[in-house]
Amino acid sequence: MSGLFQRLAPRSGPAVPFTIDGVPAEARAGDLLIGAILLHRRALRRFEFGPGERAGYCLMGACQDCWVTLADGRRLRACTTLVEPGMAVVTGGVGE
Ligand code: FES
Repeated sequence: MSGLFQRLAPRSGPAVPFTIDGVPAEARAGDLLIGAILLHRRALRRFEFGPGERAGYCLMGACQDCWVTLADGRRLRACTTLVEPGMAVVTGGVGE
């Protein structure tokens, strides 16, 4: 599985295990959630108002295009949230 993003430089620090639609994934401490997801997927979620998928746009907390849902019901703006161990992201199978 390849993602929309590629890490340009290795990042030191502890691994952060999380899941995307129940599939184990790994990020690095200090990664933003949007990067953690898009290193593994091409999109974050389905578009609510039509066909297609969303993957964020501004990457700086302004456009609101990067909202993601966790299995516990929380909705987070992925470009302003650090990935945390055990996060269970639910995308509904987008971007695979
Ligand atoms: S990508 Fe624009 S608010 Fe997150």
